[in-house]
Amino acid sequence: MASRIAIIQGHPDPAPERFCRALAEAYAAGAAKAGHEARRIDVAALEFPLIRNQAQFERGAPPPAIADAQETLRWADHWVIIYPLWLGDAPALFKAFIEQTFRPGFALRYRDGRLPEGLLKGKSARVIVTMGMPAPVYRFFFFAHGLRNLKRNVLNYAGVRPVRATLIGSVKGMGRETAEKWLETVGTLGSEGR
Ligand SMILES: Cc1cc2nc3c(=O)[nH]c(=O)nc-3n(C[C@H](O)[C@H](O)[C@H](O)COP(=O)(O)O)c2cc1C
Repeated sequence: MASRIAIIQGHPDPAPERFCRALAEAYAAGAAKAGHEARRIDVAALEFPLIRNQAQFERGAPPPAIADAQETLRWADHWVIIYPLWLGDAPALFKAFIEQTFRPGFALRYRDGRLPEGLLKGKSARVIVTMGMPAPVYRFFFFAHGLRNLKRNVLNYAGVRPVRATLIGSVKGMGRETAEKWLETVGTLGSEGR
């Protein structure tokens, strides 16, 4: 069965030569070939301010670009999130997007005396992270810290599971052949809708 997929591009740089952008294209092409319906969210192209206090987070109305992104995320049953590792974590612009988007009412519903209820149950996600260091160094020496936070504290908490990850390391100076293999792998993920 064809899925509804949201492809979330978290790279702050709109330049098409960024590897993250080639990966998103490869995923989208694979998904289209297999008949999945895919919509894009390009965080670099969205206009939104930073969340600066708890009142804005809990009671503020999301700016229009964020409301549109929330609608796309609600529509999809699978999300593919792509970002480069910057200083051990997702880029600040992507984190600002997450703070804006994952507000109570969209991601969670607070309940008296109980843990919040996740409002995004039934969705799954894949997170694709590119990085300069070898991927096993990030996974085993740094314990994939920022990725685990995104997975558990943001996505799982909102009810999104399973969340799978694809770590693409040693990106700097990566040969053409290796890059093409990764694009093929990610294209296959797209055609399989996972
Ligand atoms: C501001 C900045 C910080 C970075 N920090 C890290 C880092 O902490 N660890 C790492 O392995 N790579 C780091 N890198 C390298 C990027 O992860 C790498 O260039 C990127 O994944 C390549 O993908 P792209 O072509 O889509 O930008 C950093 C790059 C920039 C620009």
